[in-house]
Amino acid sequence: MTLGSTTPATLALAGVSKTLGGVKLFTDVSLQLQSGQSLAVIGESGSGKSTLLHLMAGLDRADTGEVFWTGSAIHTLNNNQIAAKRLRHVGLVFQAYYLMPHLSAQQNIELPFLLAGEKPDTSRCLQLLDQVGMAHKAASFPREMSGGEQQRVAIARALALNPPLILADEPTGNLDEDNAERVLQVLLTACSAQSSALVMVTHSVKAASHLNHKLNLAEHHLTEQPPAQLNPVTKA
Ligand SMILES: Nc1ncnc2c1ncn2[C@@H]1O[C@H](COP(=O)(O)OP(=O)(O)O)[C@@H](O)[C@H]1O
Ligand SMILES: [Mg+2]
Repeated sequence: MTLGSTTPATLALAGVSKTLGGVKLFTDVSLQLQSGQSLAVIGESGSGKSTLLHLMAGLDRADTGEVFWTGSAIHTLNNNQIAAKRLRHVGLVFQAYYLMPHLSAQQNIELPFLLAGEKPDTSRCLQLLDQVGMAHKAASFPREMSGGEQQRVAIARALALNPPLILADEPTGNLDEDNAERVLQVLLTACSAQSSALVMVTHSVKAASHLNHKLNLAEHHLTEQPPAQLNPVTKA
């Protein structure tokens, strides 16, 4: 399955399969995602969505198949090489935020610069904080923020080095409906502002409805066949 036509894709998977603990999760997953495109991966709990996202992030390895980041064959690299590349190519957002508790919002966003061996770009960090509606909490620590606020800071951190690919695993999973909507809009707006490709894993059909493309992970396959809720049948 191909989304879009130009090459090289920001993210490409070809024939990816994974078995965990003797259980086959998915097989022969192929897709291409271009700059500026957003993809929702929908599926029941336990269907393998997080595992698939980890493969896309180079945090785990496929049993078979290939993973490319803008043409780079990451499945051929060792873990250190992947980690170095990931810093520049991928911004990660998780359900549990994973902010550093002893750092302020601004310091959390500056962290990717330090990990990359760069002086933090303070004006970019402040601009990102503003973009996610958190400029007034630049000096606050995670314990002083709500879940939605922490997730908005985590999104700003993921965007700090302007990565071409954003991977988000259930980013609204811990949030109430209003905060979930706000976080989703922040993520989509931020991605479009820097033309990042976005993959968001979710079990929420509502959250998925905001993205350009939707694929369903079920019965070991990632298919374009939408779940029934996305395609309601109107009775005559
Ligand atoms: N390290 C592991 N070893 C064995 N089984 C695992 C491991 N990680 C996840 N699983 C199992 O693989 C399945 C898919 O997990 P996951 O990718 O987290 O699904 P999802 O994100 O769709 O809920 C689940 O049944 C889970 O229990
Ligand atoms: Mg999961």
